[in-house]
Amino acid sequence: MAGSLQIMKTKGLKRGKDLLIAPSLLSANILDMAAHIDSLGGEADWLHLDIMDGHFVPNLSFGPALVAALRKRYPDAFLDVHIMANEPEKFISMFLAEKPSALTVHIEATPHIHRALQTIKNSGVIAGVTLNPGTPAESLFPILHMADLVLVMSVNPGYGGQSFIPETLLKVERLVRWRDENNGSFLIEIDGGIGVHNAGLAATAGCDVLVAGNAVFGQPNSRQAIIDIRIAGRG
Ligand code: DX5
Ligand code: ZN
Repeated sequence: MAGSLQIMKTKGLKRGKDLLIAPSLLSANILDMAAHIDSLGGEADWLHLDIMDGHFVPNLSFGPALVAALRKRYPDAFLDVHIMANEPEKFISMFLAEKPSALTVHIEATPHIHRALQTIKNSGVIAGVTLNPGTPAESLFPILHMADLVLVMSVNPGYGGQSFIPETLLKVERLVRWRDENNGSFLIEIDGGIGVHNAGLAATAGCDVLVAGNAVFGQPNSRQAIIDIRIAGRG
């Protein structure tokens, strides 16, 4: 049976004044994930899923079966899948088969980022590219025209609950400039250490989507936590 996330706002990629909040399931209760998602009461815009391979990052997490289960239970939810795996091209088709809304791959993880984005775009799924805190924004410039979504990592990927790295906001500002100068339309998403304390900074720098794991699912009232982050982001 479909869950209450069906009434969740399933906004797409149009940039607007509204800040999108994407709770990260890495911090959700793994033994009762559906109840934890339902506790959001439709406040989340997207659901963020972290896929980790134990090689590109030192941790293991979810696979395509979770995307399939979520799609079945929440047919209209925006499933934002972030692949942290070496050679992501090996996994792209198995994730696409489970109908994610967006699929994002790391530029550091493949010599063939152009081909990876092309494969995702050709499938009709929103194509995202992401970069680690140590990777310059400029490394994305040759393929930015192909990206629907750019995810700026604001912690070193692998774990939830880490501290925000403030210098990563300079990359957000650089991406905003590139987008303005090139008439681009991609959304900018930030991931890692985001909460009420820095949502305003992130939004001011130009982020359109805020991922928040611990700041949502680590709180006793996760629905209220989303509302608070959104208010803080609007400033
Ligand atoms: C880290 C993941 C994040 C993580 C964010 O590798 O990509 O999505 O869940 O968690 P918080 O918001 O707790 O830093
Ligand atoms: Zn993530």
